[in-house]
Amino acid sequence: MHIVKYPHPTLRHRSKPLRRVDAELRRLVAEMFELMYAHKGVGLAANQVDLPYRLFIVNLASEPAAKQDELVFINPVITSRKGNAQDDEGCLSFPDIFAPVRRPERCVVSAYNLRGDFVRYELSGLAARAVQHEYDHLDGVLFIDRLDEDARLTVRPALAALELAFETERGRGAIPDDHQISRRLAELESLRA
Ligand code: CO
Repeated sequence: MHIVKYPHPTLRHRSKPLRRVDAELRRLVAEMFELMYAHKGVGLAANQVDLPYRLFIVNLASEPAAKQDELVFINPVITSRKGNAQDDEGCLSFPDIFAPVRRPERCVVSAYNLRGDFVRYELSGLAARAVQHEYDHLDGVLFIDRLDEDARLTVRPALAALELAFETERGRGAIPDDHQISRRLAELESLRA
């Protein structure tokens, strides 16, 4: 498992709900947490590890010692969004890029956890921001889609550099072509979603 970077096509995939929570899914989630901590992130969505599932994880403490702060969201639904706040965001699929994003300040999200229990959280501040950012990933929406014109211009050179790096890696054969990627996502979806 590895983190895919912009502009990898899986980041634009709109994922389907998972059908069940089982040992294999728990193993995937454990791996996602390890990866997220290794990259010092506070959230990671399945799309970012090249998986087409409606699943993301969050740990605002961003360290494995803070196990109690680990949150897993399976088939999440945001049922309410309120207020308005702006803060800098980054994303593990956009290394070293940070930009101000305006989002609702509070949200209510329901989901299933790794035990298969229904959970519901009323969130504000960083937690609400992280959950909305990760939730976007499941619909193929990226934080760069939510930038204002100034921020968009500011990050443009960094995005161009990522696009060039992606094409270079693909040229080396390290990344499959779009058709192979979408075929693999469809296969995975037919198994679990
Ligand atoms: Co992200």
